Amino acid sequence: MTDTVNRPSLAELLDRMAGLEREALPAIAAAADPEELERLRIRYLGRTAGLLSGVSGSLGLLPAGDRPAAGAAFARATAAIRARLDERAAAVAATRRAAAPPLDLTMPGRAVWQGGRHPVTVVIDEVAAIFRELGFTIALGPEAESEWYNFTALNFPPDHPALDLHDTLYLESGALLRTHTSPVQVRTLQAYPPPVRVLVPGNAYRRDFFDASHAPMFVQIEGLAIDEGVSFVDLKATLTHFARRFFGAARTRFRPSFFPFTEPSAEMDVECRICGGAGCRTCKLTGWTEILGCGMVHPAVLRSAGVDAERYTGWAFGMGPARVAQQRYDIPDIRELYDSDVRVLAALAR
Ligand code: DAH
Repeated sequence: MTDTVNRPSLAELLDRMAGLEREALPAIAAAADPEELERLRIRYLGRTAGLLSGVSGSLGLLPAGDRPAAGAAFARATAAIRARLDERAAAVAATRRAAAPPLDLTMPGRAVWQGGRHPVTVVIDEVAAIFRELGFTIALGPEAESEWYNFTALNFPPDHPALDLHDTLYLESGALLRTHTSPVQVRTLQAYPPPVRVLVPGNAYRRDFFDASHAPMFVQIEGLAIDEGVSFVDLKATLTHFARRFFGAARTRFRPSFFPFTEPSAEMDVECRICGGAGCRTCKLTGWTEILGCGMVHPAVLRSAGVDAERYTGWAFGMGPARVAQQRYDIPDIRELYDSDVRVLAALAR
């Protein structure tokens, strides 16, 4: 190392610092906005590329005896620039406040949207709360299902029209989007030996038209109760109890029906709350709205899941909470529940 290269003298360094300060102070005084002040702060005091910070690197090159004087001068210059920046920032802010238009106290306030739970969520939670009291727990299953769980294990014959491309959404992998929550019956029974009492909320998909009472994706709640000695009396008593709790005094009725996975099968209707039973668009002039399908679980389903169908029996149901919400909140068109119109949701949440 030679002694001559780039070794500033104390006088040179003091000179450079004084020069930077002389240049910085008027520039700061002239700055008119916070952005300009920030630029100046970075230019002079910036940690890596600041001009003044650059000088500090040279301090160590001075003879030891000169360093205290140079260090003190550096600290003073830095403090002076920083103080001037703060002063000017305060002044700029004060000028801006003074220039702002006076507060107009007559201006209307901004509306604050109050979030609310979606009516379908409210229904699911209430249904779950009623069944929880009866010893049901929540079970879940996948939305992308195999044909076996969605149809075969549920006793659908291979030529059942539901398997048709017109009704079921198949994935490229050969899997399908479950058309109902019933496959979770089989998955649950495979995983847990009876007695089993579960409630399964979840999405289901069908190639359906989107009209006043159908949507291509919809929520279902499946219920399943399997034990020794369970009969249709248990089904009817439990679902009637549920309807009384949920709908209050609304009348209900059971109609015989058919599902491949239940025998016997039924549908439960609730008196239409929109028209009070007189007949309207939503209840298709019948005065009743179908709330759920149900039935005694078919022995073939129990066997698919590996359950001893001689020893165990049980019942199941599948409910459409959107349909229930439609009744509960007097919504004539089910599409309102899927439009995410915050005005509708806010009105319903009240
Ligand atoms: N999976 C049927 C559907 O989507 C609904 C259903 C009916 C479920 C009867 C059940 C049942 O568990 O017992 O239309």
